[in-house]
Amino acid sequence: NPEGAPTPYIAEKGAFFEVEVLSVKHYTETLFAFRTARPQSFRFRAGEFVMIGLEGEKKPVLRAYSIASPTWDEELEFYSIKVPGGQLTSRLKDIRPGDRVLLGKKPTGTLVADALRPGRRLYLFSTGTGIAPFASLIREPDVYERFEEVVLTHTCRTQAELAYGEELVDAVRVDPLVGEFAAGRLVYFNSVTREDGPRVGRITDLIENGRLFEMIGREPLDPARDRAMVCGSFAVLTDVKTLLETRGFEEGSNARPGDFVVEKAFSGEGI
Ligand code: FAD
Ligand code: A2P
Repeated sequence: NPEGAPTPYIAEKGAFFEVEVLSVKHYTETLFAFRTARPQSFRFRAGEFVMIGLEGEKKPVLRAYSIASPTWDEELEFYSIKVPGGQLTSRLKDIRPGDRVLLGKKPTGTLVADALRPGRRLYLFSTGTGIAPFASLIREPDVYERFEEVVLTHTCRTQAELAYGEELVDAVRVDPLVGEFAAGRLVYFNSVTREDGPRVGRITDLIENGRLFEMIGREPLDPARDRAMVCGSFAVLTDVKTLLETRGFEEGSNARPGDFVVEKAFSGEGI
């Protein structure tokens, strides 16, 4: 809390906290990010998700959200879709600094470093808002202690939808805390699928035809060296999982660490 700034609002409300929104940034008609106050007792592992929401007429409207900020951050960050007519996001999209959101007390999830066996290179494959858990992980010094290299991929329909990730990676590279960890070891690759751009193609195609590895200058996937996390639509998870399993990667979980882990970025078909 910088000198002179008022203490942000934080309260307990049964199974939830109620926390103040500190900042909001809109990227496109369908994407925005926001930051909230963080209760001191709110602990999580990088990559986990938590329920967040707004009070409703009868009961609160809550949805799962990946925590996009790293564990050392005093604030919490979230990256959100705006679903037209969506029960939560048609209202959440209008939040402003000073408003309050509900925050669950029990973060959980499979996209955590503990669910992976040790390895040299960590691939973080994301599409759409699936970049959110990786926004936390690439800002976590511990991830660079576990892996020599971290490769973040982000694929969206349009170039404008890549902006959050581009800004994030630029900020990581100059960050006083993680910048040094990430220097020369965070590899960032993005592509689009529904318009022209510097890099075009679905991540599955780019893995399969080897273009990804040519473009980033790294060897093709190998379970002896590489580990992976995948976050995107159900279709993306299914297809990337098949590619990984074909190459000998074994799926892991919190209870039984493996070579890769997956998590849905949302339920349903997408918008
Ligand atoms: P809903 O009624 O929940 O959704 C309506 C439809 O919109 C869905 O059926 C689906 O087809 C589509 N949709 C929902 N979310 C998305 C999305 N993110 N991208 C594309 N299409 C979508 N959403 C985020 O924006 N950021 C996150 O970090 C995030 N993390 C999640 C983590 C988990 C484990 C899960 C299961 C979901 C996550 N979601 C995330 C989705 C989120 O829970 C809500 O679905 C979303 O906020 C929309 O809520 P809604 O009530 O407006 O619409
Ligand atoms: P595409 O435009 O070819 O469908 P969405 O916004 O629908 O969640 O998609 C996000 C990105 O994920 C888009 O670039 C989309 O490509 C891509 N995508 C969708 N389905 C798959 C899949 N089964 N495998 C790989 N990429 C996919």
